[in-house]
Amino acid sequence: MTHTLISPLDMHLHLRDEEMLNLVAPLSAYGFAGAIVMPNLVPPITTIEAVLAYKERIVRAIGQNHFEPLMTLFFRSDYTREFLEKAALHVKALKLYPSGITTNSEGGVASMDIELLRPVLEAMSDLGLVLCVHGETNGFVMDREKEFVSIYESLAEAFPKLKIVMEHITTQESVALLDRYENLYATVTLHHLLITLDDVAGGMLQPHLFCKPIAKRYEDREALLHVSLAAHPKVMFGSDSAPHPIHKKECCGCAAGVFTAPIALQVLTELFDKHNALASLQAFVSNNAQTIYGYKALHKEVILEKTPMKVTHAYGNVVPMFANETLAWSIQHVV
Ligand code: NCD
Ligand code: ZN
Repeated sequence: MTHTLISPLDMHLHLRDEEMLNLVAPLSAYGFAGAIVMPNLVPPITTIEAVLAYKERIVRAIGQNHFEPLMTLFFRSDYTREFLEKAALHVKALKLYPSGITTNSEGGVASMDIELLRPVLEAMSDLGLVLCVHGETNGFVMDREKEFVSIYESLAEAFPKLKIVMEHITTQESVALLDRYENLYATVTLHHLLITLDDVAGGMLQPHLFCKPIAKRYEDREALLHVSLAAHPKVMFGSDSAPHPIHKKECCGCAAGVFTAPIALQVLTELFDKHNALASLQAFVSNNAQTIYGYKALHKEVILEKTPMKVTHAYGNVVPMFANETLAWSIQHVV
């Protein structure tokens, strides 16, 4: 049995830099036709020069693979309209992080006060730039995303023409927002479709499943599964594949991030197949994103087959999700 995906896209991806970039970029570029590349490098990507230089490094790292990096800028509330007009030629989106909320987000916004953000958000809205948001407060870890709902509501109401992507949603409350505001969209990761907090911390602590936002309750996972398996038109796949070297995961003070890039398409196919929803996978993993972002992906055909894939214990110094386990589907070839 085989299943073909046309131009799969990863609408939330961390490619990092230097050696890590060279290690992980080809793993995404093999199966995916493109990805929204997150700007949370150290220092973050805040200039057009940095966008172009990073894009060049990515293109070099992917080698012969047919893959388009879709670049983003790290949101700053002091960008000028003139700067954003130039940036719009090179980036699809700006990624807004509340300061300190996740890996390398220290330079994010200190306040979510709409009036402080207004000049930049109005310019983005006029220029058709997408706003990607890491929607967590600094409250109790299980409530951070729920507490952000009112901020999403204010943003959606204040900037009705701005496309706002709620990144890596993990709660039923975020899912419910999709049908309440025309301009709110969401990415959903692979791991949040599969795990709950029980898998992270219910037994022996699993550092390779620790990420931001933390995996939530069973009913939250159900809500995510429901909209994803139905390929709700406002939902897109974004892996949030976030590699960290093993010594930063298996230690005291474990870094947040799950590394899923090399197994994402295989596991998604297994999941959708198990739920008799393979017919929806194309929309979830590509078509919805192209409609939402208003762009045409590079053409690529990924042929998956139902033959087992043994996942390696590590890619270089990074441990993937499902390390040492066997998946039901594998990528047969890519054209
Ligand atoms: C991401 C990272 O490591 O850059 N970590 C994570 O747990 N998801 C940052 C992010 O997307 O929050
Ligand atoms: Zn991320």
